[in-house]
Amino acid sequence: AGVFTYDPGFTSTAACESTITYIDGDQGELLYRGYPIEQLAEKSHYLEVCYLLLNGELPDREQMETFERTVTRHTMVHEQMHNFFRGFRRDAHPMATMVGVVGAMSAFYHDSTDVTDPRQREVASFRLVAKLPTIAAMAYKYSIGQPFVYPRNDLGYAANFLHMCFAVPAEPYHVPPELATAMDRIMMLHADHEQNASTSTVRLAGSSGANPFACIAAGIACLWGPAHGGANQACLEMLRQIGSVDRIPEFIARAKDKNDPFRLMGFGHRVYKNFDPRAKVMKQSADEVLDLLGIHNNPTLQVAKELERIALEDDYFVSKKLYPNVDFYSGIILEAMGFPTSMFTPIFALSRTVGWISQWKEMISDPSGRIGRPRQLYTGAPARDYVEVDNR
Ligand code: CMC
Repeated sequence: AGVFTYDPGFTSTAACESTITYIDGDQGELLYRGYPIEQLAEKSHYLEVCYLLLNGELPDREQMETFERTVTRHTMVHEQMHNFFRGFRRDAHPMATMVGVVGAMSAFYHDSTDVTDPRQREVASFRLVAKLPTIAAMAYKYSIGQPFVYPRNDLGYAANFLHMCFAVPAEPYHVPPELATAMDRIMMLHADHEQNASTSTVRLAGSSGANPFACIAAGIACLWGPAHGGANQACLEMLRQIGSVDRIPEFIARAKDKNDPFRLMGFGHRVYKNFDPRAKVMKQSADEVLDLLGIHNNPTLQVAKELERIALEDDYFVSKKLYPNVDFYSGIILEAMGFPTSMFTPIFALSRTVGWISQWKEMISDPSGRIGRPRQLYTGAPARDYVEVDNR
């Protein structure tokens, strides 16, 4: 027996100390290792942000080159994994495939599963950062019946991912540099977000000593839900379902109706009660990408813009401090790039992997670390005697 604090949804419990990411939800502020997300999105690039999150400081030129070289060396997956992919149904959701394949990495990379060995932890980190784009792209290629495309190590991280998704052996594919930049920015904006559901899942899984591949697979599984990373897919599907600007009021009314479970996807956040700073950058990126691709009259986009305008002026959304979040705009960019909605959450997952590993490494190297073991308030039956089946 004991007295426990009851905190459903963990709205007021800090589960750990961390030096990685800082969020001030009232100010709409997000810092990675102290650096504002807006500055990183404008001046940095994804692999530099990975280094920063993993190591705590920005790299000098030599450290950056070594890091890039190391990640690049690990971009291919074990050839036997191709067969593992082929065991899935072609119409499997790429997230389902990723949960399986990433979990299965522990069956392929035995030399980086010993969590007590710092060197093995390091190698596992590189492998995960390097291979997640390859795995996500393979899941996509498999789902559309095209051959897997091997990584190209002469390309940057984001450009290589686009290459693996959109190239086919039959003709050359040149990654448009502006799209690679936009993809890189999406990755940076998703790289970490402190103790959200999937990150807490990774930490909890890791606290038992489970290997890093198993922990990241757990994170991917948790991310999939529509209240979390699955919101980007759900948001675009919602915009399509609304279909035209004149139907927006109907959906706004549904979102406000207490008896209707419908929510405006891409709106609201547990921590941000002011604008999501990632959404600001993402919105600007969306405008740039659509301009670049000459997309102006896209009906989904028109619905998105009008929905945003109406919701930002509506008393319900204003009083509950529900603003568009990062997922509201990312889907618009990804759709314009040619990704099907089923790839939106895998792209979130591959971008967040570095945050998960950074948090996992921090957790595992904390000498005061103990297994995560939440308590509960038991509300079930008191002790009672077993009743024979004929007497029930
Ligand atoms: N549409 C309509 N009403 C909403 C919405 C929404 N999107 N979000 C919250 N509310 C209402 C909710 O009904 C509740 O009303 P009341 O106080 O009258 O009961 C109030 O606002 C507070 O909502 P909550 O569910 O207690 O808030 P939460 O902090 O537990 O949930 C959330 C946060 C993000 C899960 C929620 O806002 C939501 O479901 N949003 C839609 C899904 C989404 O876009 N998720 C992505 C989040 S950002 C990226 C990520 O984390 O992966």
